[in-house]
Amino acid sequence: MIQLIKGFKDVLPGEIEVWQTIERAAKETFENFGFQEIRLPIVEKSELFSRSIGDTTDIVEKEMYTFEDGKRGHVTLRPEATASVVRSYIQHKMYAKDPIRKFYTIGPMFRRERPQKGRYRQFYQIDAEVFGIDSPYLDAQIIFMLATLLETLKARDVKAHINSLGCPCCRPSFQKALKELLDAKKEHLCENCLRRSEKNPLRVLDCKVPACREAVQGAPSILDHLCDDCSDHFETVKRVLTENGVEYAVDKHLVRGLDYYTRTAFEVLTTSLGAQNAVAGGGRYDGLVKALGGPEVPAIGFAIGFDRLAEIVAMQQSIEAKGPALYIAPLGERAIEAAAHWMMQLAAKGVSCETDFGGRSLKSHMKRADKLNATHVLMLGDDELDKGMATLRNMATKEQGDLPLDGLVETLAERFK
Ligand code: HAM
Repeated sequence: MIQLIKGFKDVLPGEIEVWQTIERAAKETFENFGFQEIRLPIVEKSELFSRSIGDTTDIVEKEMYTFEDGKRGHVTLRPEATASVVRSYIQHKMYAKDPIRKFYTIGPMFRRERPQKGRYRQFYQIDAEVFGIDSPYLDAQIIFMLATLLETLKARDVKAHINSLGCPCCRPSFQKALKELLDAKKEHLCENCLRRSEKNPLRVLDCKVPACREAVQGAPSILDHLCDDCSDHFETVKRVLTENGVEYAVDKHLVRGLDYYTRTAFEVLTTSLGAQNAVAGGGRYDGLVKALGGPEVPAIGFAIGFDRLAEIVAMQQSIEAKGPALYIAPLGERAIEAAAHWMMQLAAKGVSCETDFGGRSLKSHMKRADKLNATHVLMLGDDELDKGMATLRNMATKEQGDLPLDGLVETLAERFK
């Protein structure tokens, strides 16, 4: 038997209901905040990701699914959505009419990470991005929107952790201070970090190797190096979050695993998923649109790990599959033909409907209707067809009554739509 590849998974009925609930809630929440959906390709030129996420990140160094595609050169299965959204924003000159655009997109991402619980090689993200607004009110609004969605979904044990990563003005002074500490701790750092401390010292703060984590315990705080503008920006974000009832913690070592961030960076962490505790992450990336060849447009966004959020939601509430409104139980060949006709007509009119063409007994039909969680069953055999009546049973109350076959589709459509 051919089995799926480790790190990949099927989302089956029983689990998919939670995914659908999350997706509906996300779409509704985001649209209330003025976001529009976009759908983007899964494969992009590799260069798009290396130039935006950063050459020295784990994602670009070792996790991308990249292959050669003839004349197109190297292409990559997208490891995240932000770079593609930016590419699309620039390519279609979406800024020309109005630089302010708000998008969301939901879909699969691919990273060749070591698979474990909550960490997959194909995972899904619910991604939201805003272009054209540099105000700290927007940063707070974005985190508020994320918190609102999590609250709507009753996701407990989640908390926003925020930091500021400064801007090209103030970050170099922090990098210098950090580099000094890393130089002093050289013998404790892993090989990767030794290399990265030269090219991109901030990455060392994101290393998961215990010795490296210990080495950077006493690292300087970027918050002590922010310029006045970045500092004011961060203060406003925090104040507006507090005023709007969003709980958060400031984490001065939060750096994120992607290089494009400036100023506000955040993650939503949970205490209920073990090691893979980040449910969502995001931040401002004011330089990326320009760096990828577009105009100077500020931007901010986040992505929710759909798989992880689904696990939390499933742990905390049970969302069951909805059964059909009607199960038609035909007894005999003529009844089966009538049932086939009615099922098509009813489903086309918006009534969720099931039947069975296999010539089952009434008992077997009732068993299947029960299994499917049907709310009503319409029973009919040759006798009923001759009399022009069928029996409708309410599966919850067990009440049943006769229903004329004349105008049956209209009557049922009216009742169950
Ligand atoms: P990220 O932190 O790399 O950010 O990913 C966002 C979320 O995706 C994580 O918090 C996590 O829940 C989920 N995730 C990441 N990797 C995996 C995995 N291997 N298995 C399961 N879930 C995973 C980004 O991707 C940025 N593009 C977010 C962003 C949007 N920043 C600005 N705009």
